[in-house]
This record gives sequence, C-alpha cells and structure tokens, in this order.
Amino acid sequence: MCGIVGYVGEEQAAPFLLNGLQKLEYRGYDSAGVAVYNGTGLHVVKSKGRLSVLDGILEGGRTLPGVVGIGHTRWATHGAPSDVNSHPQVSDGGKFAVVHNGIIENYLELKNHLLRRGVEFVSDTDTEVVAQMLEYYYRGDVLEAIGRVIQRVEGSYALGIICADCPEKVFAVRKDSPLIIGLGQGENFIASDIPAILSKTRDICRLRDKEIAVLEKDGVKFWGEDMEPLEKPVETVQWDVAAAEKGGYEHFMMKEICEQPEALRKTISPRIREGKIVLDDMKLTAEQIKQINKVFIVACGTSYHVGVVAKYAFEKLLKVPMEVDVASEFRYREPILDENTLVIIISQSGETADTLAALREAKKRGARVLSIVNVVGSTIANESDDVLYTWAGPEIAVASTKAYSTQLAVIYLVVLYMAQELGHTPAGEMAAYLEDLQRLPDLAAACLMDKETIQYFASKYFNARDMYFIGRNVDYAASLEASLKLKEISYIHSEAYTGGELKHGPISLLEDGTLVIAICTYGRLFDKMMSNVREVKARGAVVLGITTRDKEETLRQQTDYQFCIPKITDFMLPSLSIIPLQLFAYYVASMKGCDIDKPRNLAKSVTVE
Ligand code: F6R
Repeated sequence: MCGIVGYVGEEQAAPFLLNGLQKLEYRGYDSAGVAVYNGTGLHVVKSKGRLSVLDGILEGGRTLPGVVGIGHTRWATHGAPSDVNSHPQVSDGGKFAVVHNGIIENYLELKNHLLRRGVEFVSDTDTEVVAQMLEYYYRGDVLEAIGRVIQRVEGSYALGIICADCPEKVFAVRKDSPLIIGLGQGENFIASDIPAILSKTRDICRLRDKEIAVLEKDGVKFWGEDMEPLEKPVETVQWDVAAAEKGGYEHFMMKEICEQPEALRKTISPRIREGKIVLDDMKLTAEQIKQINKVFIVACGTSYHVGVVAKYAFEKLLKVPMEVDVASEFRYREPILDENTLVIIISQSGETADTLAALREAKKRGARVLSIVNVVGSTIANESDDVLYTWAGPEIAVASTKAYSTQLAVIYLVVLYMAQELGHTPAGEMAAYLEDLQRLPDLAAACLMDKETIQYFASKYFNARDMYFIGRNVDYAASLEASLKLKEISYIHSEAYTGGELKHGPISLLEDGTLVIAICTYGRLFDKMMSNVREVKARGAVVLGITTRDKEETLRQQTDYQFCIPKITDFMLPSLSIIPLQLFAYYVASMKGCDIDKPRNLAKSVTVE
C-alpha cells in the first residue's frame, strides 16, 4: 500500500526513482510522483494514474536532472486520487518535499492550527500537513524540525523528506509503517520495501519507530527518538534479484503459484530432523505449552483463512479451545486472555495495521504471542514473543498464493510440534503426520501438473456473473480462500458457504446454470457433501467437484466436472485443494483481461486501518 523510494548519490536520481517505484507497483497505487533537487530548488512532477503516465512525462527520468530525490506511489486515503493529492507534497514556501505512507490521525487538528497562522494548503491530504509543519518548525536545522514534527503527529508514517536548503541529503523517519535504508557505494537509498533497491544493494538497515536517518552519498547517520546518535546493524538481504522478477512468467501470480512446491520444501524440510519437529526459533517451552488454556488465531484476509484451517487441526490434535478472528474485529472487542493464552498472529507482510494492533492488544492483555510471518525483520516479527518465518521468498502479486501455502505449512509444524511436546498423540499417528508433511511439496507439484483441465473449465465459465464455493470442515476453510482468490482478481461475485448452511438461505440464489464449486476432499463428510451436491444440482446448478483420487468415480457420477488431488492427512487437504482453485481464479481473470497482479482498489500490504 503506497510505495516510497529515495536516492542520494552521483547518478541521476529520477531514472532510479522511476525504476524503484515500478518494483513497488505490486503494492497497489492510484497516482505517482517524484521530487528531485535540480541545482536551483525542488522540482516536483506527479500525476494521477499508472506509473507509465509519469514515466512518459519524465521521458524515463531524462527531463528531471538531479542527484538527490524522492518518489512515491500513492493509494488514496485522505483525498481522492488526483494530481494535486499525489505525493510528494510540498510546503507553502517550497522548502520541503515529503512522501508519506500511513495515516496522520490528528491531521485536521494540526491543519487547523497552521491555517490559523496563515499557512496555505493546496491538497486534501494528511501528508501536506507534515510538509507544512516541517517548514513551520524549521529554524535552519532539518533534524530538529523533524524531531518537533514527530512529537506532534499521531498515527502511522514512513516519511521520505528532502529540503531545498540541504541539497545533498535525504531524510527518513518512520512509525508503524515500514521503511528501510539501502547502503551502496557512493550512493544510498530509502525504500518502503526491498525490491525497490535490490538492483543496487543488498545491505540494508531497518528503522525502528521514530528513528531518523540522514542519508548523504558517502554515508548514513541515524538518530533515536531522544535525538541521540545511533549505530544501526547492517543486514544482508538473502533473496536474489530473480526472486523479485517474473522469470519468464506472464504474471507474478502464476510464478508464485508454481513456486509453491519449492517454497513448501524450504518451509518444512529444515524443521523436521530425525523424525522430530525442531523449531529452533521457538522459545515456548514444553512446560509453557502444557499450561496453554486457549489459543487465538488472529489475522486478515488470506492469512485469516489459514487460521480457519488451523482451528480444525488444533482442536483435533491438541484438544484445546480455539478461536479464530479477523484482526479488525479482535482489536476492538474485549477478548478474554491471560498469561496462559497463546495468540498466533499470521501475516505475510508483517506490517498489516489491524493485525499489528491486534498483536499489541493481545500483549497488553497479558497473552503470549507467536507470529507466523514471511517478511524478515517486519514490525509484527519484531514485536512478537516468538516468530516463525515462512521462508516463502518475496510475494509480489497482490493475491496471496505461496504465502497461504507456507503459512499453512507452518501451522501444521506448530500443531505437530505442540502435540509432540505434549506427548498425547500415539507415536504411529505422529509418524504418519510427519510423513505426509514431508510429502506435501511433491503432492503440491502433482496438483500443478494438470493446469489444462482447469484452464479449459475456466474458458467455459469466465463470463459467469456469480459463483459459489461449498465445503465442510477443512473444505469449508479452503472454500473461503478459493472464493476470495476468485473475487479479488476476476471481480466476479462469489461466496463461500458450508455445505450444511445452504438450505438455510443461500440456496435461493441458485438458478439454471449457476456455477457451484464443491470441495469434497474431507473423507468423513464426503457423503454429506454428495447430498449437498444433489441439492444444488436439483436447482439447476452446474457443479465442479474437487475430491481425492479414491473418490473420483463417485464424484464423476454426481458432478459435471471433476478435479482430483492426492490423498493426505485430513487437516492438510486445503494445501492441495487450493491449488486448482488458485489456477482457476488466475485463468478466469486472465480470460477476462483483468490486471492480475494489481487488482483494482487493492494493496499488497495494508498498512493503514
Ligand atoms: C488476499 C490477500 C490479503 C492478505 C491480507 C493480510 O490475496 O493477500 O487478503 O492476506 O491483506 O495481509 P498480511 O498477510 O500481509 O497480513
């Protein structure tokens, strides 16, 4: 959600800024802009719409000379998408240009204060308030002005700042919104996410809340909230550049769907040794596990759907009460937690605003927090008692696929690890679970072998107005995710229901030719699902059934189309059944001509509430 880049060095800034912003396009945006110090003052160019529009205006950056600059892709929160509301925002006197991710919650109060003192505003944004405040408090020392501004603003921010009086510097500060500093040779960078700078450097420093960085071409200095100088550790990014490129695929989403077997292998293999689950990073002791009286899983969107699968696994194996909640609800209710409650936070980005707030709420109420996160060093990872990384590599497409699969894999590891530590599950049963978990990458690869069947099916239904997904138990959990995948990238209206709930209302939506996708992999309730399939077919629905290979023949007799997956431990089934449905969403969106990697209105990392 929004993207920030900044450059100071010896090369031209604008081409790098445009290139960096292009690498952040996946985060979602509706306008873009850059500001460069061009030898005489700050020169700002911005425009509503795709980055290609800005790139065209700037002729790839050639028309905006200068070696210091900042750039931004904006996803509108305060004020409609427009040229004037795009960032950078510039102060009244033209001294400061600012790019901002996040939301300044008290911006109206601050704006009114400045208006009363004669400051003139041109945009509807909260960001302009920051630019105006900087100039208002500026007495010749930018660092001091930044310090005074961050004492007054409330909310979340990652800020890139340049000042006409310091033409050789870029300033950066953040709170609750990610920002990294890239360290190069004779050049340094800021970015809201790693792909933006990966072509230049792998050495980065992460800013913590309210820390300030001052970048010059030959070095970066850091200050803490107390305005004392800081030393920051340098991290080396382990991804290779290719991981953040399309690598011959038409879209990142297809690349990431196909990367799932490998990603699963990286998540699972190092954590199973000599027939045991080994979670080196987990500080939770066997004694503490025994004390756990309740588990919550809290997350948003696709990550929440992982929680829905987890509930079945936890209850089956650990016999512990469990609740799954979306973070935006959890943070504002009064959940009953104590020091024996384990709260599992799931987040690909590790920066989702609601999920982060839920984590803080859980900690405030005394619970122990374990997070499952993909982005190393992200805020959620930093603030948790324990963190298990999914090691999925960068996920660029807005629609989450390999993050979902690897989050599920970590959930299986956690539940089996806890079962192992509790020692209640018979040894033979545990060994069978571990064997299945180790087979998961190969079985996922097998599900990817038959893309053509799904492509053909998509070609018949990509014009549908509505679609319904049904399932029971873990198949219901997979239905939720399949339905979200389809609607977010193809814009087709779709819903997921439990098979048993249909006749309590939703069945009235069915008419001749309505497409119903029935996930029927959960053996214990297969016959119940067949009854549901008959019910929907009797109302004229066309049914695609998904089941395990052993049930193929029965399914063939009951449904119009079939797709079979290998058999595996019940609670791991969604890891396989989701694959044809990710492909289905992809092909439908592709046939409809949708912007698959950057669906409308969506952002990859939702860092505002
Ligand atoms: C859907 C999708 C979103 C995210 C959600 C949470 O494909 O990607 O629903 O799952 O915004 O994001 P994270 O996992 O980064 O907290």
